[in-house]
Amino acid sequence: MSTVAFDVEAVRKRTSALDRQLVFFDGPGGTQCPDAVIDAIARYLRESNANIGAPYETSRWTDELVTLSRERAASFLGCSSGEVAFGPSMTALNFLLTRAFARTMRAGDEVVVTALDHDANIAPWLELAHDLGIVVRIAGLTEELEVDYDDLARLLSDRTRVVAFPVAANSVGSAPDVGRIVELAHEAGALAWADAVHYAPHGPIDVAAWDVDVLICSPYKFFGPHLGLAYGKRETLESWRPYKVRPASNEPVGHRFELGTSQHELLAGFVAAVDHLDSLGWDAIQSHETALSERFLAGIPDRIELYGPRTMAGRVPTFCFNIPGRSPESVAVALAKKDLAVWHGDYYAVETMRYLGLEEGAVRAGIVHYNTEEEIDRLLASLAELA
Ligand SMILES: Cc1ncc(COP(=O)(O)O)c(C=O)c1O
Repeated sequence: MSTVAFDVEAVRKRTSALDRQLVFFDGPGGTQCPDAVIDAIARYLRESNANIGAPYETSRWTDELVTLSRERAASFLGCSSGEVAFGPSMTALNFLLTRAFARTMRAGDEVVVTALDHDANIAPWLELAHDLGIVVRIAGLTEELEVDYDDLARLLSDRTRVVAFPVAANSVGSAPDVGRIVELAHEAGALAWADAVHYAPHGPIDVAAWDVDVLICSPYKFFGPHLGLAYGKRETLESWRPYKVRPASNEPVGHRFELGTSQHELLAGFVAAVDHLDSLGWDAIQSHETALSERFLAGIPDRIELYGPRTMAGRVPTFCFNIPGRSPESVAVALAKKDLAVWHGDYYAVETMRYLGLEEGAVRAGIVHYNTEEEIDRLLASLAELA
């Protein structure tokens, strides 16, 4: 990968929340917001707060903001602005969209998910198995903690309606081959249903090039406010009957899946978050994240058991590990005492932890573009003391 100049200190100055002792390796659980995001939220509430569709100025500004946020979402995802829907979280949007799609499902229909998925991409289908008698199958993993594509292919049949998968795993960081999964799904006549929550802060999304049918992500994982964002292919969304109130507009088609009044102030923050990412560029973000990750991988003490690839090929910079003889919780507590923020447990990646046989889960440290070499070295030094 080419090296692109990235002035991390200048970028950090944009986010005053970073100005403290605590080091944030908890990006996989949610990232810090640049001040521009916080200011946009406050400005909306101070200057434009209203509901949509009325003739006075604050309402007209809110209409303009809703249009702008759909346009920014479209450029972020690579789709048209009518194909997006905002919601409270990925989990909420996924339960909502799976419910609408389920109106076309019958007992015996099948859904294939993967053992790399977060439960938010599995549980909605399990609940439909409970309600409708559909069948949920889980594709296994290889030793490298990649999706086992042969196993996935074996699970497909003419009853398969959906293949649900992560663009990147929020546990071990593996990034499956999206093109391969979409091709397998479409060959079986199934929808490709992507969870891009964990991938979104790390690289460009292009739903059109990827040819996914549904993709959901969460702006609070990519420097925006607590919000969910979904894409659905126009013809797919048009073919579903939404659960909605009658007076709410049916246009654009994505709006049929947005329930009630939107979180307008958070849409303002979302626009500022996309502007922030655009101003940095993915090449710069990725070369910085890769350099930090390689430093981490080169320095990780031998005694530490790292789950997942030891190189940056086919993964995002999220590292899942245990220290033999110590519980993941005790390691996270020890690191917190040293002002290093990491999470422990299963992070809702229930099937991945089951596959790994880790009842207590593992420690997870995630790197994003605002982390620094010095922070990596602090983490490595603390791990060396604990291991
Ligand atoms: C990969 C992945 N999918 C889905 C979710 C759920 O997202 P939300 O919190 O927006 O419901 C998460 C949250 O951590 C995640 O990491």
